[in-house]
Amino acid sequence: MDKIKIRGGNSLSGVVEVSGSKNAALPILFSSVLTDELCVYKRVPDLQDIHSTLVLLKYLNIDCEFKSEQHEAQLKANCVNKHEAPYDLVRKMRASVVVLGPLLAKYGKAKVSLPGGCAIGARPINYHLSGLEKLGAKIQLENGYVIASCKRLRGTRVCLEFPSVGATENIMMAATLAKGETVIENTAREPEISDLACALRAMGAQIEGDGTERIFVQGQTSLHGCQYQIMGDRIEAGTYLAAALATKGCIEVTGINTKHLEAVLKKLEKTGAQIERKENAVLLRSPKKLKSVNIVTSPFPGFPTDMQAQFMVIMAIANGISHIKETIFENRFMHVPELIRLGANIIIDGNMAIIHGVKNLIGAPLMATDLRASASLIIGALCAEGESIVNRIYHLDRGYEKMEIKLRALGADIERIL
Ligand code: EPZ
Repeated sequence: MDKIKIRGGNSLSGVVEVSGSKNAALPILFSSVLTDELCVYKRVPDLQDIHSTLVLLKYLNIDCEFKSEQHEAQLKANCVNKHEAPYDLVRKMRASVVVLGPLLAKYGKAKVSLPGGCAIGARPINYHLSGLEKLGAKIQLENGYVIASCKRLRGTRVCLEFPSVGATENIMMAATLAKGETVIENTAREPEISDLACALRAMGAQIEGDGTERIFVQGQTSLHGCQYQIMGDRIEAGTYLAAALATKGCIEVTGINTKHLEAVLKKLEKTGAQIERKENAVLLRSPKKLKSVNIVTSPFPGFPTDMQAQFMVIMAIANGISHIKETIFENRFMHVPELIRLGANIIIDGNMAIIHGVKNLIGAPLMATDLRASASLIIGALCAEGESIVNRIYHLDRGYEKMEIKLRALGADIERIL
């Protein structure tokens, strides 16, 4: 199993370009199920989760070609002969559940394994299922599978109990082929939702209101093929900015819409960092001393839960005490015991982490537990004195493209070892 070895202490400097967004690319690739025609996607990141998605799409008998060097995926779903997402595939990547809406809308049937919990929380899919039921799907749970069927879905009003990203995506995709208008209320406003809506519009879907709390979808009888470029990864961008700040560096991150990062940029500024917002880029200059800042994670436009672990490393070496409250997932502090192994002073009280900043961290062997926890350990190791080895790095490969290569180009002493 691959590991990453880091000798900490180098300040990051230079320019890094982010890859296409993982969390936008996954549902967009699944949306290709909605048409028989060719869909060509550009800026698809070369990540383990993308490969897992392609395995599932191939299993459905979709013609998939991924040119990883060019970051281009070509998908043609004109010969789908299975309507099932089996346990072994969903278990590896729970985002596979968003294949449910497209399969149901296009073929009137779908059998998708319930994903089960994961390292960061129980993560049920009840909002996905009740939304699809409101659109007219019959849903049963049997042997760990969701078995769904319908004639043609019917447009209706769906009000989500919570602005779930995945439920908004599943219901919005299903509604594109429903009869009549669907109004989805209390929707997630994450930029990835708008990116999916743009990709669906490129296929002929009629969607309005994405990016707000109410999305309107006028169902079509069919959708057509498209060419679409995925947006830049705001969480990858935030991760490199956090790494630069933790190492007292100065970097420019390119290839992102800075508006997608506003909540993170504001908090970085509160630590004392100088932030310059450019067109599709952010320049960060570190202060001499880091100030402590409190964070509460919340749905977009709030501070993203996917940046909580990385931000905690900055707080671990800031002056003073900070509080980080995690409100989205019930178990997203798995990185804390590992950061403590680097010498951080962090106490957990329910969904709150109380961080007493220390002067410096000291290298140690570490164990990654999930994607963003892995990123936080990499940042911790980059700013710690001495050597750290981060184990179970396959979590990182699910969501960061060539991270060690990008960090090395910024001056980090980092290598992948077997
Ligand atoms: C998406 O997960 C992202 N994943 C996550 O990214 C991200 O952390 C999360 O949104 C929040 O921003 C992808 O886009 C592939 P939710 P998702 O449905 O859709 C509860 C990363 O590191 N809930 O908005 O699964 C749920 O348990 C990751 O890249 C229900 O109770 O998130 C959670 O507590 C991990 N019932 C909260 O809502 C439901 O039916 C938010 O979940 C659905 C969700």
